[in-house]
Amino acid sequence: AGAGTTLLLTGIAELTTNDAARGEGQTDPGDALLGIVRDAAVIVSGSGADARIEWVGPAAEAPDADERRDLGRRAVIPGFVDSHSHLVFAGDRSAEFAARMTGTPYDGGGIAVSVAATRAASDDELRALVAGRVAEMRAQGTTTVEIKSGYGLTLEDELRSLRIARELTPHTTFLGAHVVPREYATRRAAYVDLVTGPMLDAVVADGPTALAESIDVFCEPHSAHAFDGDEARTILEAGRAAGLSLRVHGNQLGHGPGVRLACELGARSVDHCTFLDAADVEALVAARGTTVATLLPGVEFSTRSPYPDARALIDAGVDVALASDCNPGTCYSSSIPLAIALAVREMGMTPAEALHAATAVSARSLGLDRRVAPGQPAELTVLDAPSHLHLAYRAGVPIVRALDL
Ligand code: NIG
Ligand code: FE
Repeated sequence: AGAGTTLLLTGIAELTTNDAARGEGQTDPGDALLGIVRDAAVIVSGSGADARIEWVGPAAEAPDADERRDLGRRAVIPGFVDSHSHLVFAGDRSAEFAARMTGTPYDGGGIAVSVAATRAASDDELRALVAGRVAEMRAQGTTTVEIKSGYGLTLEDELRSLRIARELTPHTTFLGAHVVPREYATRRAAYVDLVTGPMLDAVVADGPTALAESIDVFCEPHSAHAFDGDEARTILEAGRAAGLSLRVHGNQLGHGPGVRLACELGARSVDHCTFLDAADVEALVAARGTTVATLLPGVEFSTRSPYPDARALIDAGVDVALASDCNPGTCYSSSIPLAIALAVREMGMTPAEALHAATAVSARSLGLDRRVAPGQPAELTVLDAPSHLHLAYRAGVPIVRALDL
C-alpha cells in the first residue's frame, strides 16, 4: 500500500502475533505463547520500511481497506529478528570448515584470515558483500538484523565496517574486541587500550549511538586470541561509560566467566552459552528481564560442538533467544529456519518456543517490540505452509519469505 492507503491481508490460515493479550484463554501452550489467531486478517498502511500495522484480528471481523491481498491460506509470522551476525567480512574460509569436519578444532585463529581479507577489500566490495548477505537473510524471512564489526581491528577498519553496516541496519555493534590482532599479539594490554581509548572514542564521536548501538567482546579464556574475564570487564565497562549497551560472546568453547560477567554488568544479551555450569544458570535466572541468553545452534552444528540444553534453561526461567551468528568461521549460514530446526531437534525447544525465541525474545535483546499489533512496524514473514510447525518440520525447504509491502 502506498503512503496514506491501507491494505487488507487476507487468506491467513494462522497468524503468530507474539501478543500475550491474544494468548489469553488459549489451551495449547504453544498457541498461547505465540498469541496465535486462526483465520486472521491484518491491515497495514504505508510501504517498505514505513509500513505499519493498523488492525489485527479474525478475518470475519476485518474492517474495509483501500486494497486487498489474498495470501492463499498460509501462515504469517513476525519477521525473524536475527540479533547476532558478523556480516562485514571479505575472503573465504571454507577450507577451515572442511578441516574441522575431519577433526581440527575451532580456536578462533582463523579470524585473522578474515581480518586480512577485510582490510584488503575496497569499500564498494565490502558494501556489496554485506548487502548481498542481508538480501540472503531477507529471502529466508529475516526482517531485522544486528550486524557487528570485528574483522577490521584497526581504528579505520572498525569505523568503516560500522559505517557500512549502518547503511543496512540501525542495529550495529562495535566488536573491536573480537580478537587481539596479530600485530598486537605480544602487546595485549596495548590493544585493550586502543579499543577502549581511541577506537571507542571514534565510534561515539558523533553521539553515543550514531555509529553503534552496542559494544561486544569475545570473552573466551579457551582461545589464545580472545579476551579473558578481566580484559572483557575493562572493555564492557568502557563501552557502558561511553553510552553503549552491552553484548557478550560467552562460554562458547568451554566454561568461563563470560556469562556471569554479562549478567553482572546488565548486558542485553550473552551469546553462545554453550558450556554452562549451575552458577551460570543461576546468574541468567537472576538476570531475567535484563539479560537474554542468545543460543546460536548453527555454531554447534558448524563446529561439531555439543549443543546447549535450551530445555533446561527455559525450564529454569531463563530468557532464551535464537540467532544465526552468520560469520565466516563458526557458522556461515544466515538461516533462521535452520537455527529453529536445530533448536527443536537438538536442544529440546518446542516449535513455538523456537519461533518465539527467534522473534520476540531476540527483538527484546535489541530493545525492540515485534508484536504483530496496531502501531508496530509491519515486518511480516509468510510461510508456504498452513502453520508455524512447518518451520522445523520442513527443515531445509525454502518455505519462508519476508512479505514485501
Ligand atoms: O561468534 N566467537 C567469536 N566470533 C565468531 C566467530 C568468528 C570467526 O571465526 O570468524 C562467533 O562464533
Ligand atoms: Fe558471534
